[in-house]
Amino acid sequence: MGAYTDDEWLAWIDQLSAEDYVVIDEFLPKDIYQTLRSFFLEHLKQDDFSKAGIGAAGNRQIAASIRGDYIYWLTKERDVTLLPVFQLLEELIQKLNRYCFLSLSGYEFHLAHYPSGTFYRRHLDQFRERNNRMISIIIYLNELWNEGDGGELIVYRDNEVHEKIQPLANRCAMFRSDCVEHEVSETRISRYSLTGWLLYQPPGLGQILG
Ligand code: OGA
Ligand code: MN
Repeated sequence: MGAYTDDEWLAWIDQLSAEDYVVIDEFLPKDIYQTLRSFFLEHLKQDDFSKAGIGAAGNRQIAASIRGDYIYWLTKERDVTLLPVFQLLEELIQKLNRYCFLSLSGYEFHLAHYPSGTFYRRHLDQFRERNNRMISIIIYLNELWNEGDGGELIVYRDNEVHEKIQPLANRCAMFRSDCVEHEVSETRISRYSLTGWLLYQPPGLGQILG
């Protein structure tokens, strides 16, 4: 049995098709959200995160001027605690394949920690080394976020700011990886999320490039 009705999936998928992105509040069932957040905090405590890169460019200084987050790549086999999260993502893939005639066949997800003072400059998630990313998904885990704390997801359209999405706890933002330009504005708090991509080929490359 799935977590959502077909009508709920359809409404979100309709909006994704019409607007290229959709924001869904209270996305995960409460217990799954709690499991994910505890998992995040546990791995943060164990210092399991590493500095994120920017693909082939490689230069650490350039990377730091573009993005300042630390990430922890997830695998279904190792991170079994998150099985319910993976199951939900697999359900999402099924619905998108059915209703949008996509042929998504995999996903790659990581936890992301933006320490205070960091950001991710405006970019697209699909570029030369990553052209199998179809849909980007972020689920935020920031329970104490307040107006003015920064770390907003800025969505651009026609070269202009279209919407600033607050990174609120259990809010999900989903968008097309190939055409939605976006940015993470500088955060003034430690910003937590689960971030990932639905792929039309199996993962691998993305994880190597970090
Ligand atoms: C990314 C990204 C946005 C966010 O990791 O590519 O753009 O809101 N993240 O965390
Ligand atoms: Mn991005």
